[in-house]
Amino acid sequence: MKGIVLAAGKGTRLYPITLPVCKPLLPVYDKPLIYYSVSTLMRAGIREILIIVPAGEIGSFQNLFGDGSSLGVSIQYAEQHEARGIADAFIIGADFIGDDQVCLALGDNIFFGPSFRQKLRAAVRLQEGDASDVNEPGGGATIFGYYVNDPRPFGVVEFDSDGKAISIEEKPQHPKSNYIVPGLYFYDNDVVKIAREIKPSARGELEITDVNNVYLSRNNLHVISLDEQYTWFDAGTADSLYEASGAIKAAQRSGKMIACLEETAVHNHWITIDELHEKAESMKNTKYGEYLFGIYEELTV
Ligand code: G1P
Repeated sequence: MKGIVLAAGKGTRLYPITLPVCKPLLPVYDKPLIYYSVSTLMRAGIREILIIVPAGEIGSFQNLFGDGSSLGVSIQYAEQHEARGIADAFIIGADFIGDDQVCLALGDNIFFGPSFRQKLRAAVRLQEGDASDVNEPGGGATIFGYYVNDPRPFGVVEFDSDGKAISIEEKPQHPKSNYIVPGLYFYDNDVVKIAREIKPSARGELEITDVNNVYLSRNNLHVISLDEQYTWFDAGTADSLYEASGAIKAAQRSGKMIACLEETAVHNHWITIDELHEKAESMKNTKYGEYLFGIYEELTV
């Protein structure tokens, strides 16, 4: 399965902060915002990643991740020149996706919570038709449902009394439930064709909700619920960035870092502990570096 991070938003809602620096590179507590989406893909076990960035910004992202090899992954970059919507990611990424399945993570969505890795792996297994607990053929689409108090700014999923998704609406005035669809989506290869066939919405965008509705009409959409143990942020505004920073800081008080990419890489056996040690050395005057040294020590005793 391939992974795409859509990090192409210019962040106009964050001006003047994003005049010189694009949104995905802004800090959320102790890491750039984009770390959280890359972490989500890596934790799902995805090793081939395409990052879609704003026009002219590839160099800044390369400064951060290079070709991904120091994280044991392969990272390619592409630019989105116009805000054509989330589903445009599958058109831009068509060659990269090839014949594979794909997971799309929005570059400003942050997820954390206990056993989130298992939730991700469950989504991958559902997609691959490998879930022994669900008697379904695999393929199709897998998305998440997350309870919020005010769902109106998001995609909103409605369930029937058996918990089956029956409708998804984008930014409804009168939401039919409090469950929103966060920015993390798994699809079979048909998604490329679907993205090419849907028409732009009234706001001129290829809506991811329209893609999800195609799978829903085919009876091939799985929705995994993320209950209150999980935290989700759409960090697109100054308030949500600030709130997310506070939440990450508070959650990390337990001693466990959220979105430490090298930790996931070592855990997945994608880099060696010596490579992790090198990374720690290069950041040794920071909390992040100290955390890496801690992992090294744990794994070498
Ligand atoms: C987008 C999607 C919406 C989804 C949200 C998650 O909203 O269109 O369905 O719930 O991301 O962050 P937008 O960022 O376009 O407002």
